[in-house]
Amino acid sequence: MLVVKKKVESGKISRNAPCPCGSGKKYKRCCLNKATSAPPEDTQYAKKNRIRIKTPEQIEGIRRAGRLVIETLQMVAPHITPGTVTGTINTLVHDFTVSRNAVPAPLNYRGFPKSVCVSINEVICHGIPGGRALEEGDIVNVDVTSILDGYYADASQTFFVGEPDADARKIVDVSRQSLAEGMAVVKPGNTIGDIGSAIQSYAEGQGCSVVREFVGHGVGVDFHEAPQVPHYGRPGTGVRLVPGMVFTIEPMINLGKKELVVLDDGWTAVTKDGSLSAQFEQTLLVTDTGYESLTPYPL
Ligand code: MF3
Ligand code: CO
Ligand code: CO
Repeated sequence: MLVVKKKVESGKISRNAPCPCGSGKKYKRCCLNKATSAPPEDTQYAKKNRIRIKTPEQIEGIRRAGRLVIETLQMVAPHITPGTVTGTINTLVHDFTVSRNAVPAPLNYRGFPKSVCVSINEVICHGIPGGRALEEGDIVNVDVTSILDGYYADASQTFFVGEPDADARKIVDVSRQSLAEGMAVVKPGNTIGDIGSAIQSYAEGQGCSVVREFVGHGVGVDFHEAPQVPHYGRPGTGVRLVPGMVFTIEPMINLGKKELVVLDDGWTAVTKDGSLSAQFEQTLLVTDTGYESLTPYPL
């Protein structure tokens, strides 16, 4: 998601104010009294940070949506070959999702015109499927978000089209491992800053750069919830992780510099220097001892 700069919090939220979680409901009808399975101190803590701690029922719903997202990526994978048009990937994802009585979350989301994001080579994210045919040597990220029974799960992978050259292999390997490094520090007591720090130190250590403008995000009841999860940062800073939080980690890693440009379509984000960019994303649940991926695939 795009980084949203928050207003500095002042005082307490009025019961009749719009809920800060972005639901559009009044605070008192939404997060103020939300029942959760978390211990009371965690619930208080999460409310303070405007984060929904998910109930067991919500977690099972997101897990089911996550299974569908992974099945969708598995369905698409064999089509990532030279000559496949990105619009065909969109149709495959759309029809598969609808056939499972689910809804593709991107379609009409803030005006996004298609059902999946397909981002090739120097495209960092939010590529709009269309007439472009995949070519031998391309790298292509497919980012799937499905809504099943009202619950959202969000995951992406970057695929090789045919045989990658050394640069393509490098950026895909570094971005995959960047997600792994972030996931490895997800456990209660660690912070959002620990995740960003783990990713940034690894990726920059490999001579790559971390995109700043887009971040991971809470997910599950809505597409984009609190907290934001930057893929850079300092250890020990930011929100403390507690069981029941569900958020994505989705580092966008560039082979060259970190700067980006958004094209005139208002969506497609590309590297300013034209260098390759890659991304992997999973939806994670914080558990008592660490995490469970709700969109699991091997890294
Ligand atoms: N799936 C993207 C994410 O990881 C968001 C895509 S928004 C869209 O947050 F509108 F482009 F689909
Ligand atoms: Co996401
Ligand atoms: Co996504």
